[in-house]
Amino acid sequence: MDDSFSYVEGGLRCEGVALDEISKGAGTPTYVYSYAALERSYRELDEAFSGLDHLVCYAAKANGNLAIMRALASFGAGVDIVSGGELYRAMRSGFDPKKVVFAGVGKTEDELMAGLGERILLFNVESASELETLERLAGRHGKRARVSLRVNPDVDAETHEHVSTGHGASKFGIPIEEALRLAETIGQYRNVDLIGVHQHIGSQISKLAPFVESVEKSAGLVEELKRRGLDVKYFNIGGGLGIRYKDEEIPTPKELVVAVRPALEATGAKILCEMGRYVAGNAGVLLTRVLYRKRTGEKSFLVADAGMNDLLRPALYDAYHDVRSLREDGSVAPADLVGPVCESGDRLARDRELPDAAEGDVLAVMGAGAYGFSMASNYNSRRRPAEVLVRGDRWAVVRERESYADLVKGELVPAFL
Ligand code: LLP
Repeated sequence: MDDSFSYVEGGLRCEGVALDEISKGAGTPTYVYSYAALERSYRELDEAFSGLDHLVCYAAKANGNLAIMRALASFGAGVDIVSGGELYRAMRSGFDPKKVVFAGVGKTEDELMAGLGERILLFNVESASELETLERLAGRHGKRARVSLRVNPDVDAETHEHVSTGHGASKFGIPIEEALRLAETIGQYRNVDLIGVHQHIGSQISKLAPFVESVEKSAGLVEELKRRGLDVKYFNIGGGLGIRYKDEEIPTPKELVVAVRPALEATGAKILCEMGRYVAGNAGVLLTRVLYRKRTGEKSFLVADAGMNDLLRPALYDAYHDVRSLREDGSVAPADLVGPVCESGDRLARDRELPDAAEGDVLAVMGAGAYGFSMASNYNSRRRPAEVLVRGDRWAVVRERESYADLVKGELVPAFL
C-alpha cells in the first residue's frame, strides 16, 4: 500500500482526507487518486535517471483523466500516447507537444496527421508501411515527421502473456535485422527524420534481467545506426516496471537504471522512458459499497456495487488487488468479492480472506490507479464511476459519475422505425 493511503485513528485515509468522507460525498463506486503518490512515483523515476540526459514520459493509457495528466505535465513529465484520443487528452491537459511520443501498431492517417499538426517529439513507427504513410502525409502537408523505430528485441518479459510485447511472436515492433534494413532506406524518405530507437517489452515486469537484455540489444542497434551515419538522438526504453499488488519483489527505478546505465551511456542518446503503471498504479483505489452478503453452497460472497465493467483487471488477467476495510478493525473472513454484472467472471477478489464487511460498508480496492478507470466500460449499461483527486486535505471530483443520458449519448432511432 502506498504511504498516501494509510489508517489514521482507525480510519483509512488518502493523504489528509478520510475515504469515508469521500464515499459519502461522491458516492460509490468511485476511484480516488492521491496527488502526493503520483508526484512521488514520478520523481522517483526522474531521479533514477539523474546524470543522464533524459525525459520520463507518462503512459496515458494507464489513466488518462485530465486532472491526473495535468498534474504530471506540471511535474515536467512527457507523455506517451497511443491514439488520437490520447493526443487530445494530452493537449487538453497542458503537455508540451515537444514532450509527446506516439506509439501504436495501428495509427490511422487522421491520427498521424493530428500528431504532425501538433509537431510532436516522436512517432514510434512500428512497420515499413507506417513509415511510408507518414512520409506521404508529411510531404502532402509540408510537415516533417520525427521518427523512432520501435524494435522488437525478442526478449521474454516474463510477465502475463496478455501484457508481454517484446518477444518474437508479438504483433509489436520491428525485428532488429529488419530495422537495420529499413534504416538503410531512410535516404529515400524526404519528409521523415529517423532520430530514435524505441522498445517496450511488456508490462508489470518484476525482474531486471529482461530489461537489461532488451536494453542492451536495442542499445546495440542505436550504436550500429550511428556507425552507419544516422543521427540517433533518442533511445526510448519503454515502460513496464511493475508495482507491488500483493507480495511481488519489484526492482526500484534506481535499481533498474543502475542495471542498464552502462548500455544507456554507451548510446550517447537522450533517454526516454514511458511508465504508466509505476506512476499511477498505487496512487489510486476504487471505493465500492457492499450491497449484500450472500452464501451459496459452501461459498460466501460480498456483492459490491463495483463490477468488472468498473475494474476489469481481476476478470481479464486474474489480477490480485488488495481489499481493505475503511475501518481498521482487522476482522476478516473467507469470501469472494463480486460485482453486479451478469457474468460469472465478475469478481474483484476470489477465494480470499476479506474484510468481514456488513451490508452498507465501503471497501477500498487497492492498486487501482492504473488500468482501472481507463479500462472501464458501460457493459450492462452501467454508468462508469466517478473519479476523485486528493491533494493534502483537499479533494475534488475530477470526473463526474456518468448519467443515464451519457449512456445513450449519440444513439439515434432512425426514421424507418
Ligand atoms: N509503452 C507502450 C508502448 C505500451 O504498450 C505500454 C503499455 C506502456 C508504455 C506502459 O506500460 P506500463 O509502464 O504501464 O507497464 N491493461 C494491462 C496493461 C497493458 C499495458 C499495455 N501497454 C493491465 O491492466 O495490466
